[in-house]
Amino acid sequence: MSKNSVVYVCSSCSAKSPQWSGKCHSCNSWNSLEEESKRIVKAKAFKENQISKTLLDINLNSVEKTKTGIAEFDRVLGGGITKGSLVLIGGEPGIGKSTLITKVMDKLSVKNKILYVSGEESESQVAQRATRLNVNTNNFYILNESSWQLILSEINRLKPKFIVIDSIQTTVSDEISSAPGTTSQIREVTHELMNQIKAKDISCFIVGHITKEGSIAGPKVLEHMVDTVLYFEGDQFDQYRIIRSMKNRFGSTNEIGLFEMSHAGLIEVKNPSKYFINDDEYSYGKTLSCILEGTRPLLIESQALVVGNKFGAGRRIANGLDSNRVIMIVAIIEKYMGITLSENDIYVNIAGGLKLTQRESDLSLLVSIISSYKKNKIQPGTVYIGEVGLTGEVGSVPQIEKRLNELNHLNLKKLFVSSKSKREINPNKYSFEILEIDNVKNLEKYL
Ligand code: TYD
Ligand code: MG
Repeated sequence: MSKNSVVYVCSSCSAKSPQWSGKCHSCNSWNSLEEESKRIVKAKAFKENQISKTLLDINLNSVEKTKTGIAEFDRVLGGGITKGSLVLIGGEPGIGKSTLITKVMDKLSVKNKILYVSGEESESQVAQRATRLNVNTNNFYILNESSWQLILSEINRLKPKFIVIDSIQTTVSDEISSAPGTTSQIREVTHELMNQIKAKDISCFIVGHITKEGSIAGPKVLEHMVDTVLYFEGDQFDQYRIIRSMKNRFGSTNEIGLFEMSHAGLIEVKNPSKYFINDDEYSYGKTLSCILEGTRPLLIESQALVVGNKFGAGRRIANGLDSNRVIMIVAIIEKYMGITLSENDIYVNIAGGLKLTQRESDLSLLVSIISSYKKNKIQPGTVYIGEVGLTGEVGSVPQIEKRLNELNHLNLKKLFVSSKSKREINPNKYSFEILEIDNVKNLEKYL
């Protein structure tokens, strides 16, 4: 027997309460309680075949992955789409979620039936985008529907192997009275979806919008339910569209996928390091470094602009890294290199919309700042790799050989590393000159 009772759920912290009130008793936010018609389902009868197994009894071959053929996307998924998996793709509006997923479905529709459910755009809008992206149309089914119950009946009729729900915020379950996009709707639909696809071995992508401010409500509440969470980083004006895996039950979460938006949709950036190599003449205020994103070395360009500020304390503005790091590097320059920058505004930027999280490019940032301040030109093809400590000492970085292998195909001229890293390197293997720098005090002679 099932009984319907009313429960109120807070949309910001998901706390439940039997009565409505203006303020959530748990997180104290106002007007956040929403009604959720709770279905008390009779506990499932004990099934006799539900017994525990040893590792040897479980057949691992049943974990099947399908490659999409879009290498950047397969990499972030951990080598392809796992059968029966639920993947959340989040990102700001306009970043390219629908564009990417349409292209992915195109690749899959060559061999499989796919269903693209759009509650946001009409059939013709989805079809127009798909046509623009040269989609193979035979197995690509489009459904413009927002009711979960109707979507489910179409899934049962069509029996697709892959499904897209674009977006989760527009999909509603008729069994819940709250408005589309509310936490209880999003959770209910995802829960139902998860049960259905696991039972039917369908792989499903759900698209979720996040905004700069309100990223907590919405897709965040789904993260624990889905198998994989992919987020688009940056915004629609950045050169790169970076897809990062925040959670993955089937692979590493360190990987990123790099794409660029073009008239033909998102195209893979297979050799991103090449972008920053230009043979232009000597220039000042920019240097190269090499970071590791997951298992992948990437050449990056750090740019600095140092200008006088007549009216007071200089500002430090950082794009692509934490501004506290810029403040620290400036302090190191002032202390150990005898340069006073307190009356200068300093702007630092990482080209291409990449975000730095590690400290391996400290030396490169430092040289960019000094080069801009002194108008000292840097030879093109010079790379700086190293963390800079508070004593001015240049530290080594992990996996130096891996980074150098990447740099080796790029026709570079010079590399500066710490003395310790230099000892780890066999200089005969590389096509560029390798110079060591143990402390930033000794940098002067190279600038
Ligand atoms: P879209 O994928 O609809 O973004 P989202 O689903 O994340 O909201 O589109 C992103 C933007 O990309 C859109 O403003 C138009 C642009 N775009 C292109 O530049 N080239 C293309 O081929 C397509 C399909 C879109
Ligand atoms: Mg969209």
